[in-house]
Amino acid sequence: MEGAITVRLAVYPGSFDPVTNGHIDILEKSSKIFDEIIVAVIHNVTKKALFSLDERVKLIEESTRHLSNVRVDAFSGLLANYLEDKQACAIIRGLRTVTDFEYEMHMAMMNKKLIPNIDTMFFMSDSQYTFISSSAVKEAALLGGDVGSLVPPVVKTGLEEKMMNDG
Ligand code: COA
Repeated sequence: MEGAITVRLAVYPGSFDPVTNGHIDILEKSSKIFDEIIVAVIHNVTKKALFSLDERVKLIEESTRHLSNVRVDAFSGLLANYLEDKQACAIIRGLRTVTDFEYEMHMAMMNKKLIPNIDTMFFMSDSQYTFISSSAVKEAALLGGDVGSLVPPVVKTGLEEKMMNDG
Protein backbone atom coordinates (compact mmCIF):
# COMPACT_ATOMS: atom_id res chain seq x y z
CA MET A 1 0.00 0.00 0.00
CA GLU A 2 1.45 3.33 -1.05
CA GLY A 3 2.57 5.54 1.81
CA ALA A 4 2.43 2.82 4.46
CA ILE A 5 5.70 2.30 6.26
CA THR A 6 6.37 -1.16 7.64
CA VAL A 7 9.00 -1.36 10.37
CA ARG A 8 10.68 -4.75 10.37
CA LEU A 9 11.15 -5.39 14.07
CA ALA A 10 12.87 -8.56 15.26
CA VAL A 11 13.30 -9.93 18.77
CA TYR A 12 16.52 -11.57 19.98
CA PRO A 13 15.52 -13.49 23.14
CA GLY A 14 17.81 -15.16 25.64
CA SER A 15 19.14 -15.32 29.17
CA PHE A 16 22.26 -13.23 28.47
CA ASP A 17 23.81 -14.08 31.85
CA PRO A 18 25.99 -12.30 30.83
CA VAL A 19 26.06 -11.04 27.24
CA THR A 20 29.21 -12.19 25.42
CA ASN A 21 31.05 -11.13 22.26
CA GLY A 22 29.26 -14.05 20.59
CA HIS A 23 25.87 -12.40 21.21
CA ILE A 24 27.22 -9.02 20.05
CA ASP A 25 28.43 -10.66 16.83
CA ILE A 26 24.88 -11.94 16.16
CA LEU A 27 23.48 -8.46 16.86
CA GLU A 28 25.99 -6.75 14.58
CA LYS A 29 24.93 -9.05 11.75
CA SER A 30 21.18 -8.99 12.32
CA SER A 31 20.95 -5.23 12.94
CA LYS A 32 21.97 -4.70 9.29
CA ILE A 33 18.95 -6.69 8.11
CA PHE A 34 16.16 -5.44 10.39
CA ASP A 35 14.95 -1.89 11.00
CA GLU A 36 14.78 -2.43 14.73
CA ILE A 37 15.85 -5.16 17.13
CA ILE A 38 14.74 -5.72 20.69
CA VAL A 39 17.08 -7.82 22.79
CA ALA A 40 14.57 -9.51 25.09
CA VAL A 41 16.14 -10.67 28.34
CA ILE A 42 14.16 -13.42 30.01
CA HIS A 43 13.13 -13.10 33.62
CA ASN A 44 13.25 -16.76 34.53
CA VAL A 45 12.48 -17.35 38.20
CA THR A 46 13.46 -21.03 38.02
CA LYS A 47 16.99 -20.39 36.67
CA LYS A 48 19.57 -19.02 39.11
CA ALA A 49 21.36 -16.18 37.36
CA LEU A 50 24.69 -14.62 38.34
CA PHE A 51 23.55 -11.18 37.16
CA SER A 52 20.16 -9.79 38.13
CA LEU A 53 17.68 -8.95 35.39
CA ASP A 54 18.47 -5.23 35.70
CA GLU A 55 22.19 -5.89 35.57
CA ARG A 56 21.84 -8.07 32.47
CA VAL A 57 19.75 -5.40 30.72
CA LYS A 58 22.25 -2.63 31.61
CA LEU A 59 25.25 -4.67 30.46
CA ILE A 60 23.61 -5.26 27.06
CA GLU A 61 22.61 -1.60 26.74
CA GLU A 62 26.17 -0.50 27.38
CA SER A 63 27.59 -3.13 25.01
CA THR A 64 25.33 -2.19 22.10
CA ARG A 65 25.69 1.60 22.14
CA HIS A 66 27.32 1.38 18.67
CA LEU A 67 24.15 -0.24 17.24
CA SER A 68 21.58 2.55 16.98
CA ASN A 69 18.63 0.32 16.03
CA VAL A 70 19.07 -2.09 18.97
CA ARG A 71 17.21 -1.65 22.25
CA VAL A 72 16.95 -3.85 25.30
CA ASP A 73 13.92 -5.01 27.23
CA ALA A 74 12.98 -7.69 29.76
CA PHE A 75 10.21 -10.24 29.39
CA SER A 76 8.66 -13.11 31.28
CA GLY A 77 6.19 -15.78 30.29
CA LEU A 78 5.62 -17.02 26.78
CA LEU A 79 7.87 -15.59 24.07
CA ALA A 80 5.01 -15.86 21.54
CA ASN A 81 2.89 -13.44 23.60
CA TYR A 82 5.76 -10.99 23.83
CA LEU A 83 6.31 -11.13 20.05
CA GLU A 84 2.64 -10.48 19.42
CA ASP A 85 2.62 -7.58 21.84
CA LYS A 86 5.62 -5.97 20.13
CA GLN A 87 4.31 -6.78 16.63
CA ALA A 88 7.60 -8.44 15.77
CA CYS A 89 8.13 -10.04 12.36
CA ALA A 90 10.93 -12.45 13.33
CA ILE A 91 12.85 -14.13 16.13
CA ILE A 92 16.63 -13.96 15.93
CA ARG A 93 18.81 -16.78 17.20
CA GLY A 94 22.49 -17.54 16.77
CA LEU A 95 23.92 -20.89 15.70
CA ARG A 96 27.41 -21.69 16.89
CA THR A 97 27.90 -25.35 16.02
CA VAL A 98 25.79 -28.28 14.92
CA THR A 99 25.10 -29.08 18.58
CA ASP A 100 22.94 -25.92 18.83
CA PHE A 101 20.85 -27.04 15.88
CA GLU A 102 18.57 -29.65 17.42
CA TYR A 103 17.62 -27.50 20.42
CA GLU A 104 17.09 -24.47 18.19
CA MET A 105 15.03 -26.43 15.65
CA HIS A 106 12.64 -27.66 18.35
CA MET A 107 12.29 -24.19 19.80
CA ALA A 108 11.69 -22.66 16.34
CA MET A 109 9.04 -25.28 15.55
CA MET A 110 7.31 -24.75 18.88
CA ASN A 111 7.25 -21.00 18.40
CA LYS A 112 5.97 -21.44 14.84
CA LYS A 113 3.06 -23.48 16.21
CA LEU A 114 2.31 -20.88 18.86
CA ILE A 115 2.59 -17.88 16.55
CA PRO A 116 2.46 -19.06 12.90
CA ASN A 117 3.07 -15.69 11.23
CA ILE A 118 6.52 -15.31 12.80
CA ASP A 119 9.61 -17.23 11.70
CA THR A 120 12.94 -17.73 13.42
CA MET A 121 15.98 -16.43 11.53
CA PHE A 122 19.34 -17.98 12.34
CA PHE A 123 22.63 -16.18 12.08
CA MET A 124 25.85 -18.18 12.03
CA SER A 125 28.42 -17.18 14.62
CA ASP A 126 31.84 -16.19 13.33
CA SER A 127 34.27 -19.07 13.85
CA GLN A 128 36.15 -17.11 16.54
CA TYR A 129 33.00 -17.14 18.73
CA THR A 130 31.72 -20.68 18.30
CA PHE A 131 33.17 -21.92 21.62
CA ILE A 132 31.87 -19.04 23.75
CA SER A 133 28.94 -19.59 26.12
CA SER A 134 27.80 -17.54 29.09
CA SER A 135 28.38 -20.48 31.48
CA ALA A 136 31.94 -21.07 30.27
CA VAL A 137 32.73 -17.35 30.58
CA LYS A 138 31.32 -17.24 34.13
CA GLU A 139 33.21 -20.35 35.21
CA ALA A 140 36.50 -19.14 33.76
CA ALA A 141 36.11 -15.64 35.23
CA LEU A 142 35.11 -16.85 38.68
CA LEU A 143 38.16 -19.15 38.73
CA GLY A 144 40.44 -16.24 37.91
CA GLY A 145 40.80 -16.67 34.12
CA ASP A 146 41.17 -13.70 31.80
CA VAL A 147 37.94 -13.42 29.79
CA GLY A 148 38.73 -9.98 28.37
CA SER A 149 38.72 -11.21 24.76
CA LEU A 150 35.38 -13.04 25.15
CA VAL A 151 33.09 -10.35 26.58
CA PRO A 152 32.53 -6.59 26.20
CA PRO A 153 34.67 -4.48 28.61
CA VAL A 154 31.67 -3.62 30.86
CA VAL A 155 30.94 -7.32 31.33
CA LYS A 156 34.57 -8.00 32.25
CA THR A 157 34.30 -5.27 34.90
CA GLY A 158 30.95 -6.68 36.08
CA LEU A 159 32.45 -10.15 36.49
CA GLU A 160 35.41 -8.72 38.42
CA GLU A 161 33.02 -6.91 40.77
CA LYS A 162 31.07 -10.15 41.35
CA MET A 163 34.32 -11.93 42.20
CA MET A 164 35.33 -9.24 44.68
CA ASN A 165 31.92 -9.32 46.36
CA ASP A 166 31.97 -13.12 46.58
CA GLY A 167 35.50 -13.45 47.75
N1 COA B 1 27.28 -16.68 21.11
C1 COA B 1 27.60 -17.03 22.36
N2 COA B 1 26.80 -17.75 23.16
C2 COA B 1 25.61 -18.13 22.66
C3 COA B 1 25.22 -17.79 21.37
C4 COA B 1 26.11 -17.04 20.57
N3 COA B 1 25.84 -16.69 19.33
N4 COA B 1 24.00 -18.33 21.15
C5 COA B 1 23.66 -18.95 22.27
N5 COA B 1 24.63 -18.85 23.19
C6 COA B 1 24.66 -19.47 24.51
C7 COA B 1 24.24 -18.60 25.64
O1 COA B 1 25.33 -17.87 26.13
C8 COA B 1 23.75 -19.61 26.64
O2 COA B 1 24.84 -20.15 27.30
P1 COA B 1 24.70 -20.85 28.71
O3 COA B 1 23.73 -21.98 28.54
O4 COA B 1 26.08 -21.25 28.95
O5 COA B 1 24.19 -19.79 29.64
C9 COA B 1 23.17 -20.70 25.79
O6 COA B 1 23.75 -20.57 24.53
C10 COA B 1 21.69 -20.63 25.71
O7 COA B 1 21.35 -19.48 24.99
P2 COA B 1 20.31 -18.37 25.40
O8 COA B 1 20.27 -17.44 24.24
O9 COA B 1 20.56 -17.75 26.71
O10 COA B 1 19.03 -19.17 25.36
P3 COA B 1 18.27 -19.79 26.51
O11 COA B 1 18.18 -21.21 26.10
O12 COA B 1 18.71 -19.48 27.86
O13 COA B 1 16.93 -18.95 26.30
C11 COA B 1 14.73 -18.56 25.43
C12 COA B 1 15.98 -19.40 25.45
C13 COA B 1 14.70 -17.48 26.47
C14 COA B 1 14.68 -17.90 24.08
C15 COA B 1 13.57 -19.56 25.58
O14 COA B 1 13.76 -20.31 26.75
C16 COA B 1 12.21 -18.90 25.65
O15 COA B 1 11.72 -18.41 24.65
N6 COA B 1 11.58 -18.89 26.84
C17 COA B 1 10.27 -18.30 27.04
C18 COA B 1 9.23 -19.38 27.29
C19 COA B 1 8.63 -19.86 26.01
O16 COA B 1 8.10 -19.13 25.22
N7 COA B 1 8.74 -21.18 25.79
C20 COA B 1 8.24 -21.80 24.58
C21 COA B 1 9.18 -21.62 23.42
S1 COA B 1 10.11 -23.03 23.05
